Amino acid sequence: MIKYFKVIVFILCLWPLAAISLNIYFDELGPEPIKKIMHHFGEWTLIFICLTLAMSPLKRFTPFNFWTKFRRMLGLYVFFYATVHLLIYVGLDYRFDWDPILNDVLKKKYIYIGFSAWLLLIPLAATSSQKMIKLLKHNWKKIHKLIYVIAVFGSLHYIWLSKTIFFKPLIYSLIILVLLALRIRIKKKDINYG
Ligand code: HEM
Repeated sequence: MIKYFKVIVFILCLWPLAAISLNIYFDELGPEPIKKIMHHFGEWTLIFICLTLAMSPLKRFTPFNFWTKFRRMLGLYVFFYATVHLLIYVGLDYRFDWDPILNDVLKKKYIYIGFSAWLLLIPLAATSSQKMIKLLKHNWKKIHKLIYVIAVFGSLHYIWLSKTIFFKPLIYSLIILVLLALRIRIKKKDINYG
């Protein structure tokens, strides 16, 4: 049964790609198409970070325990959408002109932190297989705690690029803070129950 659920969730996760493809096809991107596509994938990266972080609390607070079975897939979608977001910036916005890109990374703090978040996603994606879980044992859990840092970096990236926290960056930051706080509570409970 869970196998079918996984296929459905996998297909649903492709919605951001389908939605923007439809916008492109029907020429609905507005006056700044590259910006629109970049923002679309940036926002969906943040949404997938929130979804990934929400799986453990959902398992804890609902009667269903299948939530964590989707965590790896959602995490890989975070990497996928972050990479598309980055490629649009590098390829479409700057046409692979590396000097201004490097300048941006070094001088604009929101690019620097966004890029750092993407770099931190690489070890998570590279170690997401069952084989790596077995190979790395308890170190695997340590490495995958990087998702908390990535979530904070992602929300800082949004606040800094927006130059104000109001309102969408604030909403995402609050969601991320609540999800991180719930994880701390979950961990404490686990310790109390031995
Ligand atoms: C985990 C990684 C990342 C997340 C969660 C993320 C998230 C976001 C979000 C939410 C937006 C704004 C969307 C909106 O306004 O609706 C955005 C915009 C943007 N991001 Fe990212 N991003 C990430 C990585 C990166 C990387 C690696 C780069 C480039 C090196 C980058 C460059 C940009 C740029 C240039 C914009 C548009 C800024 C503007 O409008 O002037 N992001 N990103």
